[in-house]
Amino acid sequence: MLIDRFGRRVTYLRLSVTDRCDFRCVYCMAEDMTFLPRAQVLSIEEMARIARVFVELGVRKIRLTGGEPLVRRGLVDLASQLGNLAGLDELCMTTNGGRLAEFASSLAAAGVKRINVSLDSLDEDRFRQLTRTGQLAQVLAGIETARAAGFQRIKLNAVILRGRNDDEVSDLVRFALERRLDISFIEEMPLGVISEHSRHEAFCSSEEVRGLLAPAFPLEPIADDSGGPSRYYRVPGHESRIGFISPHSENFCAACNRVRLTAEGRLLLCLGNEHSVDLRAVVRAHPEDDAPLRRAIVEAMTVKPERHHFDLQSEPQILRFMNATGG
Ligand code: 5AD
Ligand code: SF4
Repeated sequence: MLIDRFGRRVTYLRLSVTDRCDFRCVYCMAEDMTFLPRAQVLSIEEMARIARVFVELGVRKIRLTGGEPLVRRGLVDLASQLGNLAGLDELCMTTNGGRLAEFASSLAAAGVKRINVSLDSLDEDRFRQLTRTGQLAQVLAGIETARAAGFQRIKLNAVILRGRNDDEVSDLVRFALERRLDISFIEEMPLGVISEHSRHEAFCSSEEVRGLLAPAFPLEPIADDSGGPSRYYRVPGHESRIGFISPHSENFCAACNRVRLTAEGRLLLCLGNEHSVDLRAVVRAHPEDDAPLRRAIVEAMTVKPERHHFDLQSEPQILRFMNATGG
């Protein structure tokens, strides 16, 4: 029911429930960040309403993202409302894992089926450097709690940066295989102006990561069943899927099935473009009537861009950070 100008069906909504986060990952945020004033952020009720209308329009998968979703008050309540929506096949969440030990079982009970946990390093000091404020031990405890909580799948996400954690890719895969977790390696994207490293110099392509893994792990490609940007491989004898998300080196826009709703209710039609529609204005102008909201979402499809164009050589064209985007 939601089809864009290029014939792509939109069936996947990434819902950023807050731009706030208790970590400050170097690739995602500046050290000193200003967050949205609360009045500008959608309420839990507004988010649930918009999500419901998306599902009525054919969305089958929703991912709760941030910032860090678990710092948003009312998140578990939102998850259970979405978990009960008829027509929604999959409710997922992306988290930094810092509070997962506390929340994993309520999230599973609320109907969250799959979670992605960011994990860029298995070394405590380095983890601290990359996240600036994160504690590895807490995240590892969160992963263990999640494993016991009964999610269908748990996936680790690792952004690989040359000279910072590219020497850990084999350890990260071993960690995933031993725990039957999936893992995806992500090329860093130029979202927002950061100071800690040059995105150009730190760029490590998926091809290079596969090269680094090759001596220890024979990777066999598997047919992509996710419809998403990941290319998946497996290691013979193991269940885990090893994914590569390559926004620079392997453009995946032709199969794009997703849109993002920012915490302030801006519907972003593409990760790498600024095209957006303000849904907060629509829900606040029409608190009782869903028809204008439905119309705004359907019309938004006509402004979905064909593809992103990331360029690491020049200044970032996209000034919003990932936490303001819906990571
Ligand atoms: N490029 C690529 N991935 C990023 N993430 C955050 N910022 C960036 C970026 N600039 C990833 C994190 C996390 C998810 C929320 O988004 O690693 O897994
Ligand atoms: Fe927080 Fe995730 Fe951004 Fe890290 S990548 S600062 S955990 S939102």
